[in-house]
Amino acid sequence: MNIGHIPLTNNLFVAPMAGVTDRPFRQWCKRLGAGYAVSEMVTSRRELWTSLKTSRRSNHDGEVDPIAVQIAGTDPLMMAEAAAYNIDRGAQIIDINMGCPAKKVCNVWAGSALMQNEPLALAIISAVVAVCEPRRVPVTLKMRTGWCHGERNALVLARAAESAGIAMVTVHGRTREQGYSGLAEYDTIAAVKAALSIPVVANGDIDSPEKAREVLRYTGADALMIGRAAQGRPWIFREIAHFLSTGEHLPATPVLQARQWLLDHLVDHYSLYGELAGVRTARKHIGWAVRSLPGGEAFRAGMNRLETCKDQIQAVGEFLHGLADSQPLWPAIGHASSPKTCDVPIAANHASIRLTA
Ligand SMILES: Cc1cc2nc3c(=O)[nH]c(=O)nc-3n(C[C@H](O)[C@H](O)[C@H](O)COP(=O)(O)O)c2cc1C
Repeated sequence: MNIGHIPLTNNLFVAPMAGVTDRPFRQWCKRLGAGYAVSEMVTSRRELWTSLKTSRRSNHDGEVDPIAVQIAGTDPLMMAEAAAYNIDRGAQIIDINMGCPAKKVCNVWAGSALMQNEPLALAIISAVVAVCEPRRVPVTLKMRTGWCHGERNALVLARAAESAGIAMVTVHGRTREQGYSGLAEYDTIAAVKAALSIPVVANGDIDSPEKAREVLRYTGADALMIGRAAQGRPWIFREIAHFLSTGEHLPATPVLQARQWLLDHLVDHYSLYGELAGVRTARKHIGWAVRSLPGGEAFRAGMNRLETCKDQIQAVGEFLHGLADSQPLWPAIGHASSPKTCDVPIAANHASIRLTA
């Protein structure tokens, strides 16, 4: 599939997740089967662009094309400037954030809260498209199904966005009011897909190859976006890709193979953050990776006390090496033996999807 004129290798996308989908994580997912990754959101507030946090978020060193940057804000002019700024720094696709449930910018709620103010949402879309179009940069939109259960305006907004020049729409099957609670619903996504000619991406609670197939079938979406289920397990993309193309499951991943992938990711991670911040921010990735393993929770608790890259690498390497002796294969998806530790809970691995709101 394409986003505008830009071709993608497949239709499995990593969701933008603030504090997670930094450049090393995006690279990790792309290496293990994701066809597309969007950056963590970058603020439209000019005074923050040179901050360490935003500069790291704008780092695309060595990133596999296409480079897609998500921008967040509430002012059309500032959003247009942010788009131009990121294009000058390598962005080939600009994504507008109307999907995040909680982000306050200049005392105004940004992200999915914009869905409550359709005129402002459209003014932002038009302003961003106006600066991107002459630069041949497609603009995409990520949204929820609406503000709350009674105000699910994704279809109205998606139609208007398409008319305003948006090249692709992603819909997370929850309202803003829901946050991450309850289950994602896919009827609204199916309705958006049926109404639009541009590609539509289904997002929300996709956590297994079977679920991926069901959501694709039910919504008719052009692509799937996966967030929490890829935390610590980016090889879910190759597992899903294989299942969708063959109907068969990939053989289970050897623990020693996953060990090498994780260690490679840690090295890349430290290269972006340095020792101090690198060790701290790597903890969550390690925690997510080991959460499904026997002894994973105890290992995570101990590992959180380590303060150097060398110690962290050594501990992870030894833990997984030891585990491989007794359990050579990584557990299948949904077979967690210890509690999940992600910031936001993901729904359990559903046998069937919820078909109505
Ligand atoms: C830790 C975290 C951070 C997130 N940050 C963003 C963000 O910056 N922009 C955005 O559009 N959505 C953000 N999201 C929402 C995800 O992109 C996605 O829509 C949501 O997690 C549902 O997909 P999933 O069920 O596959 O996780 C975030 C989600 C999580 C869990």
